[in-house]
Amino acid sequence: MDVLRTPAELSEWTEAARRAGRRVGLVPTMGFLHRGHTSLMEACRTRADTSAVSIFVNPTQFGPTEDLARYPRDLDGDLRKCRHAGMDAVFTPEAGAMYPDGHRTFVEVTRLQDGLCGARRPGHFRGVATVVTQLFALARPHVAVFGEKDFQQLQIIRRLALDLHLGVEVVGMPIVREADGLAMSSRNAYLSAAERTRALALSRGLQAARARWAAGDHRSDALRDAVRTELRAAEVREDYVEVVDPATLEPLPRADRPDARLLVAAFVGTTRLIDNTAIGC
Ligand code: PAJ
Repeated sequence: MDVLRTPAELSEWTEAARRAGRRVGLVPTMGFLHRGHTSLMEACRTRADTSAVSIFVNPTQFGPTEDLARYPRDLDGDLRKCRHAGMDAVFTPEAGAMYPDGHRTFVEVTRLQDGLCGARRPGHFRGVATVVTQLFALARPHVAVFGEKDFQQLQIIRRLALDLHLGVEVVGMPIVREADGLAMSSRNAYLSAAERTRALALSRGLQAARARWAAGDHRSDALRDAVRTELRAAEVREDYVEVVDPATLEPLPRADRPDARLLVAAFVGTTRLIDNTAIGC
């Protein structure tokens, strides 16, 4: 496995693969890798001849009061996991190489970036869209794999790939969960043992809402209440609970389509967690 440190190394490496007639796959990450990430790597391998992972804690997607400085890092462990997952290259640039002095260009995906996490984390998706566009410009992958864990992010990236005619197939993969239902996340590392138990309120709330929907109650307010009941019981502070159209991310008054998306963001202590589900799929 090749470890690529500079943007030029990534673009030369993928250019050589393309010239050799290979289909190039890319899995963008911020590292501290878990089974959610490795599931994306496996999906990438089945869809590409040559697979690269990027590990970059992207400063522009963190707000001034967010966890950039203390975001968990473990490059040695991550490289081992990437090697084990059969990756051909890992790209780990310095922040100054992605954002050199004088950097002035940002990518915004209007409307899709405004609600849900975008409303709570101003500028977050501008940073995500910018770095993903940079990665796509450098690697020019045929396929790129993302998780449904970050559902709004996935839809934003699908849109930017289409709108900028990047010619990359954006693949979304299901959320990988711990045995008890907790969605895997690098940020779970922030949780104490007691918080880890309370954090189950998110997935439990989504399950309760799915059960209510399956029993025939398709009113979004009732589905949101089902989630809120679980959050309150665990003393988990809601950031938002929304039912939206999966493509436009616009709120829906009723979830009559099984692919209507129910999303939750909540604070367990000071740790902000997110989770989501298709309501009836
Ligand atoms: P990160 O949080 O490291 O996540 C990298 C990818 O792994 C994302 O596509 C995310 O949705 C996916 N992922 C995380 N947890 C998952 C889980 N439990 N199951 C399935 N997939 C999961 O998302 C980012 O990094 C960044 O915003 C990035 C896109 C790399 C841009 O900086």
